[in-house]
Amino acid sequence: MNIHTFKNEKELNEAGAGIITGLVQMQPSAVLGLATGGTPVGIYEELVKAHKKGHVSFKKVTTFNLDEYVGVPENHPESYHTYMKQHLFDHIDLPADHANIPDGNAASLEEECLRYNRELEKAKQIDLQLLGIGHNGHIGFNEPDHSLVSGTHVVKLKPETRSANARYFASIDEVPTHALTMGVGTILKAKSILLVVRGADKADIIHRALTGPIQTELPATLLQTHPNLVVLLDADAGRLFV
Ligand code: F6R
Repeated sequence: MNIHTFKNEKELNEAGAGIITGLVQMQPSAVLGLATGGTPVGIYEELVKAHKKGHVSFKKVTTFNLDEYVGVPENHPESYHTYMKQHLFDHIDLPADHANIPDGNAASLEEECLRYNRELEKAKQIDLQLLGIGHNGHIGFNEPDHSLVSGTHVVKLKPETRSANARYFASIDEVPTHALTMGVGTILKAKSILLVVRGADKADIIHRALTGPIQTELPATLLQTHPNLVVLLDADAGRLFV
């Protein structure tokens, strides 16, 4: 694994976006796995800048998002569908039908998970999976548990995940209780993984995730098994790596 620590957010964002831009320049029909949340926002901003300068086109790219809340309307300001439009899709030339996000309002969530898995299989392999990490070590919405699921599935969000995401909603009661998420098997099948972590509050969990024993109670530890993992940390998140 390659771990890089950056002095400031600007450098981290440029490095993260540079990796994605470089991949798409070399492989215009790359398959990208995308994340939401606070962590990737600055990277998406840099990708939009690169696109607007004419440095990169996403016309042939296909994307798969990690997850979506259950029961939040697609056009709700906090749905991950809305997030992706706001931060990336509305500002680049990715064709709408190349963007895949699980449907958290499907009549049958089980059927939707199978459909998402089929789409992933059709795409064969994600070339680069962008990831953040939860304070409890989740990746996607694969929460700590005594066992983990390989493919796309419905997950009950842990109280700590709901509290962390409450900052985006009017109150904790409005934070969804369930989500659809890609499984760890799908994440680990990606050709390369770009894990981004920011903030002093993530220093301990990212250190344990990358150096501690591999365990399903800390899902991000499974990333240690990946042959091509790149980790970008800001100085605060990286303070336990010497
Ligand atoms: C988002 C996702 C989550 C987040 C994680 C960190 O699609 O899958 O695993 O990456 O919860 O969230 P932030 O970046 O908001 O701290």
